[in-house]
Amino acid sequence: MKVERDYFESIIERRGTNCARWDTMDKKYNQENLIHLGVADMDFRAPDAVIESFQKVVDHGIFGYTDLFGDFYNSISRWIKRQHQVDVKKEEIIFCPRITIAASLAIESLTEKGDEILINTPAYGPLYQAIIKNQRKVLESPLQQDGEIYRIDFEHMESLITPKTKMYILCSPHNPVGRVWSREEMKEIGLFCQRHNLLLFVDEIHSDILAPGVKFTSALHFPEQVRSRVILATSMTKTFNVPGVILSYMIVENENIRDCLKADIERIGMNNPNIFSVAAVEAAYNHCDTWYEEMLDYINGNDEFTRWYFAEHFPEINIFRREATYLLWMDCRALGCDDQELEKWFIQEAKVAVYMGNTFGKEGRGFIRVNIASPRALLQEAYERMRQRYDSIRRSQIT
Ligand SMILES: Cc1ncc(COP(=O)(O)O)c(C=O)c1O
Repeated sequence: MKVERDYFESIIERRGTNCARWDTMDKKYNQENLIHLGVADMDFRAPDAVIESFQKVVDHGIFGYTDLFGDFYNSISRWIKRQHQVDVKKEEIIFCPRITIAASLAIESLTEKGDEILINTPAYGPLYQAIIKNQRKVLESPLQQDGEIYRIDFEHMESLITPKTKMYILCSPHNPVGRVWSREEMKEIGLFCQRHNLLLFVDEIHSDILAPGVKFTSALHFPEQVRSRVILATSMTKTFNVPGVILSYMIVENENIRDCLKADIERIGMNNPNIFSVAAVEAAYNHCDTWYEEMLDYINGNDEFTRWYFAEHFPEINIFRREATYLLWMDCRALGCDDQELEKWFIQEAKVAVYMGNTFGKEGRGFIRVNIASPRALLQEAYERMRQRYDSIRRSQIT
């Protein structure tokens, strides 16, 4: 089945649908004419097969309690095999509504109050907040950058470890900096966790959305002695643009860890999925390979277009290499303005909303994150709005 390009080119009105990206952000900025390139979902229609499978549920008309059967697990196993060439057993897969919940649950079930948990910064907020909100201590290890890509500072991570350090939370691929950790880096991460007896919570939600030629090394490829300390959390919601169905899952090989997590899931009564999430997994993981490949291609085209446009019109803004995700991480520090001025310029002058880098911690000051999962014409309009007002932000740098 060939997916038509229109699929990604059509601009679909999302306002008025309780949409976090468009409605909530309009409300936040108290404006109605912004173009929103912030919240990480796509402005694309989900694959037809997913919509049809939702339709079947709707047509049936009974939305009863739902359990998980073989097809759900087989669909996940098929996809994992397709993407990572690894066989995952049904019992290793644990359903969880959101990765954000999985992170909190893993912290709460597997560590104690006051324990230390390591995370690299800039960091995806909910992962960072899961440490704080569960009263654990955050050990921040800033990623190092050279203007093109970011790297993990293993020496710095070593220097932070104490007997109270119990877990490392790894975002792989990394949001917001767009890195895919190389095989060598993953090996070093594994050795590091083994050496310090750390649990590794790894969030692989962005691992399906890779730039061309980039190879992703899943935590599933760690040697057995490292895999036994891994809680892998992932989802199909980013890949197939259905984050509103609220669904993720963990893959945990270690039976003791699994039992702890499952007991906690039962304790809080979170074991039944939403009826639509089952439909989404089965359809997306089995029948949407073409949509998926074309979506990657379209995102890549948007990435190239954005780089071309910015080089041409906004030479002071440096875009980091995107190895994965549909998010571009951009350094705006050469504009010489502070975050408040920059945000004000985006909202009040350019009429474009992006994520300010400081929402990912202090290492993100002076940076922005731009979501390029939109029809190209919409991106173009956003960039043209920026171009028309660009002189005013440039001028503020000179005066
Ligand atoms: C790294 C990362 N993890 C998790 C999520 C959200 O996952 P969920 O909706 O399952 O909580 C996002 C969404 O932006 C993300 O970027």
